Amino acid sequence: MTSTLRDAIYALRKARLGLERRRLDYGRETDERAERLAAVLPASIAELREYEREYDSLEWFHDAYADRVAEIHEAGVATDTTHWRDGATLYVVCRALEVETAVETGVLFGSFDAHILAAMERNGGGTLHAVDLPGGPPGRFDYGHLIPDRCRDRWRLHRGDAREVLPALLERVGPLDLFLHDSDHRLPHMRFEYETALSHLESGGVLASHDVRLSRLFDRFTEENGLQSCVVCDTGIGRQSR
Ligand SMILES: C[S@@+](CC[C@H](N)C(=O)[O-])C[C@H]1O[C@@H](n2cnc3c(N)ncnc32)[C@H](O)[C@@H]1O
Repeated sequence: MTSTLRDAIYALRKARLGLERRRLDYGRETDERAERLAAVLPASIAELREYEREYDSLEWFHDAYADRVAEIHEAGVATDTTHWRDGATLYVVCRALEVETAVETGVLFGSFDAHILAAMERNGGGTLHAVDLPGGPPGRFDYGHLIPDRCRDRWRLHRGDAREVLPALLERVGPLDLFLHDSDHRLPHMRFEYETALSHLESGGVLASHDVRLSRLFDRFTEENGLQSCVVCDTGIGRQSR
């Protein structure tokens, strides 16, 4: 398939996703987060709800995060930032699994990063390796602007195309408790990241992906590889059984 055709299909999928998002009941999605995650993670619904309450009450986090979100909104550049409700899902996952080693692709302003790092702060340990292209986000901001100073020392930024950076990075820092994809959502790239990450996951580790409603790829990939999975809002969570 030519890259022009691939780009056209991707644009079509994005437009369809936009329509689907308007129909999706995000209130219900978040209400059912704990139930859906309990089918995948080694934690009860009650324990997962407790992590959700803990997230809601993290004042130091919400104060810093809200100030920085306001800055990027005021500058008019917040468009591609991942919503906090998806970040909250990652917070719960990282608390439930006490994630130590995590790798994420696609940082931009770092909404996911901020949530993963807040969970690591509560866990009392862990490192997040984050990969994004050379350059930076729009406006006067750096990658990871939303990350509160309090948990920034657990963050390592790797600049480069994930295709080039990931294989050696995963070899060096793996096995991983968590891999999160949120970079290039064209299918060949998503499949490349899922496949590369899967072989470096710790037993019981999580393969997570944003924007899984763009296609059936995440569902198919997790099924073919024997991962238990669920989708909450726009984020897919798949876990290898031990
Ligand atoms: C949707 S944004 C990520 C949003 C972010 N995860 C958040 O929490 O707000 C996508 C990011 O992926 C990056 N990206 C796109 N293609 C990439 C690639 N091949 N390798 C690494 N990063 C890539 C872009 O530069 C952009 O910052």
